[in-house]
Amino acid sequence: MIIAPSLLAANFGQLAKETRRAHQAKADWLHLDIMDGHFVPNISFGPEVVRVIRPLTKMTFDVHLMCSKPEILLEPFAKAGADNIIIHVELGDRVPQLFWKIRALGARVGLAINPPTAIANVEPYLAQIDQLLIMTVNPGFGGQPFIHEMLPKIQQAAAWRRERQLLYHIEVDGGITQQTAVECARAGADAFVSGTALFGQRQLKRAIQKMRHAVTAAAPKIKPQPAPMC
Ligand code: DX5
Ligand code: ZN
Repeated sequence: MIIAPSLLAANFGQLAKETRRAHQAKADWLHLDIMDGHFVPNISFGPEVVRVIRPLTKMTFDVHLMCSKPEILLEPFAKAGADNIIIHVELGDRVPQLFWKIRALGARVGLAINPPTAIANVEPYLAQIDQLLIMTVNPGFGGQPFIHEMLPKIQQAAAWRRERQLLYHIEVDGGITQQTAVECARAGADAFVSGTALFGQRQLKRAIQKMRHAVTAAAPKIKPQPAPMC
């Protein structure tokens, strides 16, 4: 189970301090929301911020590109220290070449899907990805309420993963609180991006531990497979 606080909800006047706080709180990944003011109606920060905070921690940097032209940003973010690079399925037929470029840069490949987009759109790519990010709010802003209608998408992604014996993470992003994280875990999610509900806490370490325990307890138990006859 991966707990990934989103830096979007941190104090932007103190990003280095906030990065250290997430590290000391034993977050698994640090989620970095990159918004270009075009794909989404907001602007966040660019590769320079990632470069500056990179030496402060060994945490996996999970870079979520909400950008219309990720092709011009992949190399700058990879060089700045991104470990995972997530692009959106809404980019259409540009997705395969973007995957290829992300891999060539040595990063792990993520695919994100917005709430209005049907889950069938990600199906052709499942064997090529390390993580599937299911947006549980419309992207652009932190602090929005979780959209419960996204839970069947998580269930479908988990069913495909099981049936095809794939290993991609099912990551949820938007409105994730202690309660909604549990609902997502029951549906099959195993990576939880949370901005407001984590960075807003004075006791970040305790909030992360609490979420990790709750989602671990809520996760569906996988039946052990019988040993193959030989
Ligand atoms: C939304 C971003 C999210 C955001 C989540 O556009 O992709 O990662 O930071 O923030 P909360 O947890 O506050 O909804
Ligand atoms: Zn995000």
